[in-house]
Amino acid sequence: MAEIRSDPQAAGEATEAQISVHWREEEYYYPSARFVGQANLTDPSVIERFSEKHFPECFREYADLLTWDQYWHTTLDTSDPPFWKWFVGGKINASYNCVDRHLAKYKNKAALIFVPEPEDEATVSVTYRELYVRVNEFAALLRDFCGLKSGDRVTIHMPMVPELPVTMLACARLGIIHSVVFGGFSGEACGMRAADSGSRVLITMDGYYRNGKMIDHKTGADIALETAKQAGQQVDKVLVWRRHAGKSATVSPFVKDRDAWVDEILPNYRGQIVPPVPMDAEAPLFLMYTSGSTGKPKGCQHRTGGYLSYVAGTSKYIEDIHPEDVYWCMADIGWITGHSYIVYGPLSLAATSVLYEGVPTFPDAGRVWRIAERLDVNIFHTSPTAIRMLRKSGHDEPSKYNYHFKHMTTVGEPIEPEVWRWYHDTVGKGEAAIVDTWWQTENGGFLCSTKPAIDPMKPGSAGPGVPGIYPIIIDENNEPIAAGSGKAGNICIRNPWPGIMQTIWGDRDRFVSQYYAKYCKDRNSKDWHDWPYFAADGAVLAADGYFRILGRVDDVINVAGHRLGTKEIESACLTVPEVAEAAVVPVVDEIKGRVPEVYIALQPGIQASPAIVEKVNKAIEAMIGKIARPRRILIVPDMPKTRSGKLMRRVLAALSNNMSTGDITTLANPDIVEKVRELVQGKNAVTLADGPEDLKTFGTQE
Ligand code: PRX
Repeated sequence: MAEIRSDPQAAGEATEAQISVHWREEEYYYPSARFVGQANLTDPSVIERFSEKHFPECFREYADLLTWDQYWHTTLDTSDPPFWKWFVGGKINASYNCVDRHLAKYKNKAALIFVPEPEDEATVSVTYRELYVRVNEFAALLRDFCGLKSGDRVTIHMPMVPELPVTMLACARLGIIHSVVFGGFSGEACGMRAADSGSRVLITMDGYYRNGKMIDHKTGADIALETAKQAGQQVDKVLVWRRHAGKSATVSPFVKDRDAWVDEILPNYRGQIVPPVPMDAEAPLFLMYTSGSTGKPKGCQHRTGGYLSYVAGTSKYIEDIHPEDVYWCMADIGWITGHSYIVYGPLSLAATSVLYEGVPTFPDAGRVWRIAERLDVNIFHTSPTAIRMLRKSGHDEPSKYNYHFKHMTTVGEPIEPEVWRWYHDTVGKGEAAIVDTWWQTENGGFLCSTKPAIDPMKPGSAGPGVPGIYPIIIDENNEPIAAGSGKAGNICIRNPWPGIMQTIWGDRDRFVSQYYAKYCKDRNSKDWHDWPYFAADGAVLAADGYFRILGRVDDVINVAGHRLGTKEIESACLTVPEVAEAAVVPVVDEIKGRVPEVYIALQPGIQASPAIVEKVNKAIEAMIGKIARPRRILIVPDMPKTRSGKLMRRVLAALSNNMSTGDITTLANPDIVEKVRELVQGKNAVTLADGPEDLKTFGTQE
């Protein structure tokens, strides 16, 4: 167990880092000469060019990858820490950079290739010209039919279809701030986010394929609107894209003057051209809600100029994307990986970005490799959960297909060295360079990774900071931990970078307290050196400068690469009237990395029963979505508590993970620990049967 706590006062909490498995340092792997021969970044002087001596001007290199309407005058403005401003004075449009500027050279090249889940449905290529036409027409609709303008927010709750990037880019064209909510989140979760962002318009789709079934998705919109209304936000328009021309996949009735089929109104805007609005570099481009330490997800607000520069730069140099490449990131666009590394990064570089609608193992374990073979994908990007799942369901499948990746990414969770080696040897056929990229929703783009043609790979380690990122590990006494000491601590980034979020939407104080308060050296200082960014991840720094990430040190669990707040799950449990107390802890899982396990104590006089377990399960599903379904829901007679009444999640996590509970003599009720152990590790538990379907249903993210 890592000896690490994010906060001494939170000693009773259970964190991912505490249950993380430590593996030994592995040997290096080197990229092939063939890969290096074609790579975008081979000049080791990049390390010097992006060293602290050249900060912040080094990031001009990234910004210069883009086309600016007006060049900026100040690269980094630190006058209002930690609200950094990047490329100040600049004007730029993200939609123009991802679409229009490629037309001269690439109008007939595929920007997106959509692979529907049913294998008998043909793939759809959207050329840059076609994307241009669709984005313009939809932008005209947003402007004229919905009356939207720069600075307005729009919530988008859509599956993995080309209409999703079209919608995002149409928003960006007008300076409308999009807030995409992952399609697998429930209507209620979507409605809460729509309310927080103050969206008047919700964009959705009637349905989509998942695991061979057509899912009715539009019904979620009705729930979302009701939830938003209760939270004080009136959503007055719902635009519904149609999955299959001439058909409807939803039973939800259309509300007059509120709901509209996009394909019925879009013809009114045929051929319209909407000039891209030159946006301030600092204008928000989008919001992305993510889980934190409280029950309320926070809207990470990302800026236009800095964000786009950062994702363009990292896509070019870390993902090694060239316009000739066929790039496939298997994440969902509803998460930050999809925003940065399916849409904005690859399209800003004129790449071809593949979008797959469905489940990686549908209809069988060879599906992913058939897609790769057919489309001649040469850059592949996915998560450890997906890799574990593909390995388990079809260990030798990749060798049956004739595809060749030059580059592969893993992101979202720590990857076990043996899983990494399967990825390298079997999926990558020993030919592909691998990057293990560590970063977060808040960060816009990669923070730690090897530079694929320059640094050797080390299984299980993300690597050093990427160019221009200076990470450090700090302990609870605010002392840096030296490289090679073997000690775990909190990974922080010492400097600002262009991809960092601007703030939490509508909550400046929370932004400061969440990310900067812990290690800020002087609240009055205008010097960025005094404001390290606290990432809330535990990590270890090896002697060679490679960071290994252990997991979260706060109340967040990464389930199959999906970030969930334990407090959100606990709040959902507490909506069931029979439940008096709830505690959610992370449990190590062979496939999904971590899964939540729920403990509940019932109100006095209430008998434990499978019906209550089912009620709790339903509440979690309704308020968050199937992705949050716990492995087990355990009804316990009481919770272990300190004398001051603090619930000891740490003890429960130890029991769930078959680890030592440590000293429990200081508990108010030490006897309860043995009783709970019998329940957890024995056969008497009233639990939900193992095996939530979410892996099959939502396994592709990141
Ligand atoms: O714990 C870290 C883990 O994922 C968290 C961020 O989740 P999210 O904001 O959803 O973004 C996921 C994709 C960027 C981090 O705090 N994480 C992310 N990448 C890695 C990782 N853990 C280990 N290794 C990684 N490469």
